[in-house]
Amino acid sequence: MQEKNMKGIILAGGSGTRLSPLTKVTSKQLLPIYDLPMIHFPLETLRQAGIVDILFIVAPDHAGDFLKYLGSGKDFNCHFSYEIQDKPQGIAQAFQIGKDFIDEDNVALILGDNLFEDDFSQSIQSFKTGGRIFAKKVADPERFGVVEFDEQNRAISIEEKPSNPKSNYCVTGLYIYDNTVVEKVKNLDFSPRGELEITDLNNLYLKEGSLDVAFVEGAWFDTGTFESMFEATQLIRDRRLAK
Ligand code: TTP
Repeated sequence: MQEKNMKGIILAGGSGTRLSPLTKVTSKQLLPIYDLPMIHFPLETLRQAGIVDILFIVAPDHAGDFLKYLGSGKDFNCHFSYEIQDKPQGIAQAFQIGKDFIDEDNVALILGDNLFEDDFSQSIQSFKTGGRIFAKKVADPERFGVVEFDEQNRAISIEEKPSNPKSNYCVTGLYIYDNTVVEKVKNLDFSPRGELEITDLNNLYLKEGSLDVAFVEGAWFDTGTFESMFEATQLIRDRRLAK
């Protein structure tokens, strides 16, 4: 069987209500983390892993500003495509919107407001089939998808924003899937909050025994709150000044 290519999707829609009023005038993912727009960081994570064919999924408001900053991809030695998500109907919807872009390939999805310190080259380049997600120990798991492990450290359940989390390990915003993701998302139903849930998709892979849960070693920020934007800004500033 011929090796499949790895394409990249950066999901940068959403409402950004937690960063209001800043998000009244621009998109969350274009707000600065120290000296660069937030979206630059997930883009670098994909590029570092050798992904050059990248789809940006953005909300209709301020869509032109993404094009202005990112362009064709030539300046980044990449090829960029763009799609609009009309309404924020869930992270897993990215694979319906991105179906033609994914075509016959595998795909790595990263959230446009996630900043990772790790280099995922190895995890992405070694990927063959199934799904691979990245967990991180956090103090406030109830805000995220939470992974439960058995004694052998195998993932046995993933719950979306549980009120009684079964572990402190949350699912971060980088997801790698084989091409079956395109079929799998066709069978997802909208959740009570009106979204196609990434947790439901991960549970489909988990059920068929093909979900690999790796761990994030370095710093990770979901920069969707003022507090986390501030912390991420400090990290990037420290790095710049250390150079
Ligand atoms: P969230 O931070 O969960 O949602 P949000 O961006 O709408 O922010 P808020 O809760 O403050 O209103 O989304 C995580 C990331 O995924 C973020 O980069 C936006 C993106 N996203 C989409 O692009 N479309 C969607 O339908 C959802 C749910 C999220």
